[in-house]
Amino acid sequence: MVTLSSKLKVAVFISGRGSNLKALIKSSKLKKSKYQVSLVLSNKLNAKGLDFAKKNKIKNYFIEKKLSTFENKALRLIKINKIKIICLAGFMRILSSNFIKKAGIPILNIHPSLLPKLKGLNTHERAIKAKYKFSGCTVHHVNEKLDSGKIIIQKKIKILKSDNPKTLAKKILKLEHIAYAEALEKII
Ligand code: GAR
Repeated sequence: MVTLSSKLKVAVFISGRGSNLKALIKSSKLKKSKYQVSLVLSNKLNAKGLDFAKKNKIKNYFIEKKLSTFENKALRLIKINKIKIICLAGFMRILSSNFIKKAGIPILNIHPSLLPKLKGLNTHERAIKAKYKFSGCTVHHVNEKLDSGKIIIQKKIKILKSDNPKTLAKKILKLEHIAYAEALEKII
């Protein structure tokens, strides 16, 4: 049986809305789940995602925007809280290779495209412009290169003629909410 004390401690880094954080928290509450969200860090003061952390009584911190400050404080909190995996969920900063090395634990990211296609920003707009037939989301390991680490899970959908960036984003976000927890359980 998976007891709360035996669940792997996960930290989630956010910058905004936090719907993926919310989905991860929800899924962590299932009996069969092997992880718990123990720490939420935001580099944005008013990130809506911080409210989900507060509501769920999860330790949460806003750390000022300067990357080096964020990383140093994050490293300390990760150690103190015995975090074993970091999940980036809409975290819009690129972590330094120094941070990745010093953290010494897996760091995962969710990206709204079928990597290696469409790294970076505005993926839905670019998918439609490029007339791709499919798009989706990818959960991958983070390395020092942007959106380039080993892929853990992808979920794919067809792009319809009637889709625009907004409708596509909405459909893919739904997939993201399933994919992230699946990927996490897969690597634990
Ligand atoms: C998600 O669509 C996520 O894939 C994307 O930001 C959104 C965050 O939403 N991440 C990236 O584009 C990273 N390159 P959320 O705050 O509601 O989870």
